[in-house]
Amino acid sequence: MGKIISFANQKGGVGKTTSAINVAASLGYIGKKTLLIDLDPQGNSTSGVGITKKGLKKTIYDVLTDGTDIHEAIIATKFDNLSVIPSTIALAGAELELIEIENSEYRMRDALNLIRDDFDYIIIDCPPSLGMLTVNALSGSDGVVIPMQCEFYALEGLSQLMNTVSRIRSHYNEKLSVTGILITMYNARLLLSLQVINEMEKHYSDKLFSTMITRSVRLSEAPGFGRPICYHDPKGKAAQEYMAIAKELAERI
Ligand SMILES: Nc1ncnc2c1ncn2[C@@H]1O[C@H](COP(=O)(O)OP(=O)(O)O)[C@@H](O)[C@H]1O
Ligand SMILES: [Mg+2]
Repeated sequence: MGKIISFANQKGGVGKTTSAINVAASLGYIGKKTLLIDLDPQGNSTSGVGITKKGLKKTIYDVLTDGTDIHEAIIATKFDNLSVIPSTIALAGAELELIEIENSEYRMRDALNLIRDDFDYIIIDCPPSLGMLTVNALSGSDGVVIPMQCEFYALEGLSQLMNTVSRIRSHYNEKLSVTGILITMYNARLLLSLQVINEMEKHYSDKLFSTMITRSVRLSEAPGFGRPICYHDPKGKAAQEYMAIAKELAERI
């Protein structure tokens, strides 16, 4: 049975989408059948793996709000073992629509049950909030990866997210666990980075991934080419770092 992992953090701009795309593509690259689900109305994971949003027939919005068969929303990418369920801006409406439906927390879980045997890994790129979409993702996941940047308020945000994970665990999904905390956009020359890492190690040493993702221009330009980093710049440091994370993830869950 495939493992389902949400990439979540209520803060925007911390590297959720970049990490979801590149971990998913790296898993595919090493032979794991992988599905990337774009759960952010901005649709950056969709375009990041080379899918044009215009003219899409079915998206995750249809699956969650309309009862569309999830099989119909899966699109193959041109990358090894990597499929995607896309999203568009229409998904922004789902937050409100789902609140009005009873037990809608389980929509994602119920849909994924139909396909989880078809994949080794299902990676969900969550939006930057703890609303109904993220609750749906976490209620249907085995694990959560928390990408975070080394900044002053990171630890505060992290404890809030940990509380949400506990709440989901007690109300909707007792098997949910924190698979790992992933430091992104790391810059070893910044004193603040070192201080935040120090604090993180005090409180969450068992959760931190052993590799950190350093700042990389190649990584930030790759989505513009619709390519994950392991295809855009396969020999570069960022590709190696995300490959290491994918392997560590596969050992952890
Ligand atoms: N390691 C990195 N080095 C340089 N830029 C990065 C890195 N990780 C992410 N970015 C850039 O930072 C911005 C925010 O990242 P993104 O993955 O979209 O965050 P989120 O999904 O959490 O909002 C994007 O422009 C992305 O290209
Ligand atoms: Mg994002």
